[in-house]
Formats: sequence, structure tokens, C-alpha cells
Amino acid sequence: MPNLTKIPQEEGIDHTLSLLREGYMYISNRRRSFHSDVFATRLLGKKAICIGGKEAAEIFYDNEKFKRKKAAPNRALETLFGQNGIQTLDGEAHKHRKDMFMSIMTPEGLKNLTNVTKQQWQTAVDKWERMDKVVLYDEVQEIMCRTACQWAGVPLKEDEVKKWTNDLGAMFETAASVGPAHWLGRNARNRVEKWIGDLIVQVRDGKVNPPENTALHTFAWHRDLNGKFLDTEIAAVEVINILRPIVAIAVFINFTALAVYHFPEERKKLESGDEKYALMFIQEVRRFYPFFPFVAALVKKDFTWKGYQFEEGTFTLLDLYGTNHDPKIWDNPEVFNPKRFANWADSPFSFIPQGGGDYFMGHRCAGEWVTIEVMKVSLNYLVSNEF
Ligand code: HEM
Repeated sequence: MPNLTKIPQEEGIDHTLSLLREGYMYISNRRRSFHSDVFATRLLGKKAICIGGKEAAEIFYDNEKFKRKKAAPNRALETLFGQNGIQTLDGEAHKHRKDMFMSIMTPEGLKNLTNVTKQQWQTAVDKWERMDKVVLYDEVQEIMCRTACQWAGVPLKEDEVKKWTNDLGAMFETAASVGPAHWLGRNARNRVEKWIGDLIVQVRDGKVNPPENTALHTFAWHRDLNGKFLDTEIAAVEVINILRPIVAIAVFINFTALAVYHFPEERKKLESGDEKYALMFIQEVRRFYPFFPFVAALVKKDFTWKGYQFEEGTFTLLDLYGTNHDPKIWDNPEVFNPKRFANWADSPFSFIPQGGGDYFMGHRCAGEWVTIEVMKVSLNYLVSNEF
């Protein structure tokens, strides 16, 4: 038996309220006060371990140590993720489903996405010229909804654009909410699942024919490990796993606009059209601003790490925001400095705004390249137009 060290423990019956109150800073605050990248607490009425930093991310994405089945709280499944989607799978079933997602993330697929995004931005900018006031977040969500549907092969009726934009937005905006806001997100998910579920049926009946290599086509015809088509509901959940997060890129685009506004000297550098600098700027936006606070998993089987015992079944959170602001990884993490990415030694575990590890073997975000491509196009519009 190895010498075990007691995990620093936050005292008290339950800390869910502190988590909701402190949000992005909840784990970082305690990592700092405990001087430890691991601490134990109680969340949602059960024991939980919180971990953060590069080495913590390395163990969190080790499929032998953590699993996802039954890890996501119901509240998140009812709004953000949906039931039985890729986020809840492990092992071979996860790998097979992940291959389905990554099969549409080809260079041609991404080039097509870039073109669609440019086209939708241009149409919107032309429209904005005739408007007195533009609310950027709302407008960009609409651009992203149109982009997402066009790229995914999902037919979108003009008089329903606002409705589906709002519903797709509500799913991620209410993910951490309670009360009426939670129900808003839940109802939005129910409506979108019905819409996309009906489309899956129509594709399989030959009544709707999306272009090949789009998400709607690929997921409708995907076969699981038993050679069967996905259940209609699951295929819909997975198509929504493409649509919803593309609409969510509106959050990063708003932060991009904020950064361009807050740091005028950066704007000048961006106006020169240096593509390498534009990418560094985008990476810094993704590192600096808050988006996804943490990810959850369950300990798969007992193991020890740095002398600490992790017991099978323990609910564990990995601090994404705090790892992107970890002074052990980043010099002056609270300073917005795109140049830090000039000679950055790429590690899949230290820069984790969209999760860490390997795209194909783990749960790292399937849409990270999509996000970067869409942000590149959007940044270009933001710096080359006077809004
Ligand atoms: C808007 C910016 C985005 C952020 C901040 C984000 C963040 C994340 C995070 C934190 C995860 C979970 C990683 C984990 O469980 O360890 C994730 C997973 C995922 N994301 Fe994203 N994402 C974004 C955009 C996208 C886009 C644009 C797509 C699709 C086009 C996408 C599709 C997915 C999928 C399918 C998964 C599940 C992967 C798996 O479980 O294997 N995301 N994302």
C-alpha cells in the first residue's frame, strides 16, 4: 500500500451555492488558498474532487482513470448536452461516435465552413448598414445560426431563423441556471430536438436530401458498433451538438470585439492583415476570457496520484478556466498578450479552453478547429469595418 496523503478538504455540508456564486473562480480560489492543485469538497449533495493545472489535465484525460457515463448532472443533460450523446460515452462506443464527428472536420469541410461564414457575415454587414442600432451579440448569434445550419445541411426557413437562433442560444445560456431560466433552456431543447428529429426521419425516408459530408447527412446514415442506425433522438442530439456550439461561438466573437475595443494598439497590428498575428490574437481571446468553467467526470477505478487516493465513482471537476490562467503555465496570466503564443510550445493539456488531450481518443472538443476558423473570419470583419 503506497503512503497516502489526505486531500485538502473544504469543510461544510455542501458548496454548490459557492460554486454558482463564484463561478469561474470557484476552483481557482480554493487551489490558491489550499496551495494545492487538488482539493475535496461537496457539490450537488455528494463528495467531489476538484483538480486543475497541466498535470491534473493529463490524468483527467487518461481513459483508464476517468469515465463520462453518468458524470454530467441531469440539469446539463436537459439543456446543454441532451440524453445519450457523445459526451456520455466511454471506450469503443465513444471512439466510434467521435470518428463520426471528426469525419466532417476535414480540410475541405473547414474550407467550406470558412466560405459559408464569410457569406453570412457579408449579408449581415450589408443589412447592418441600414440599421440605426446593432446589438452585436444578438446579431452574431443569428449569423452563427445561419452558418451552422447551412454548413450542417439543415434547411432553415427564413421566418424561423429568429426562433431557432433563440432556442439554440437558450440551450447553452441556461446550462447553469435554476428555476424559470432552466425551464426556458429545457423547453428550447425539446423544440429543437423535435425539429431535428423530424428532419432525420425525412432524410432516411428520402424526402430531404442534404449534401454528402454535411452533419445532417453523415449522422442520419451513421451506423453504431452493432451496424444499426442511431436512434432518431440520438442522431438529433448529435446534429444539435454541431448546431448549438456553432451558435455559441457568438460568445467568443463578442469577446473578440471587446478585446479589439479594449486594446486599440492590438487593432493596429491586426489591421496589417498578418495572419499569424490574427491566430495568436484568437488564441489569446480563447485563453483569457471565461467560457466553459470546468468539465466533469467520474473516477473509473481506484488510483493514486501524487500520493492522493481517488476512489472509484468520485465526481471530479477539471478546472479549465483556472488552468488557462495558471501562473505555473502562463507568465502574467491576467494580462492580455497575444505575443505569448508566438513561440508557444503546444501542449494538449495546458491550453484547454475547449478541453484537453487527443481529439480522436478523448473528449476534447470536436469543434475546436471549427471555432478557430469561424473566429478568424469574424475577426477580419470586426477589424476591417467601423461599427
Ligand atoms: C464555442 C466555443 C466552444 C467551446 C468553449 C467548447 C468547449 C467544449 C468543451 C469544454 C468540451 C468538453 C471537453 C471534455 O468533455 O473534456 C467540448 C466538447 C465538445 N464540443 Fe465543443 N466547444 C466549442 C465549440 C464547439 C463547436 C463549434 C463544435 C462543433 C462544431 C463543438 C462540438 C463539441 C463536441 C461534439 C464535443 C463532445 C466531444 C466528446 O465528448 O468527445 N464544440 N467543447
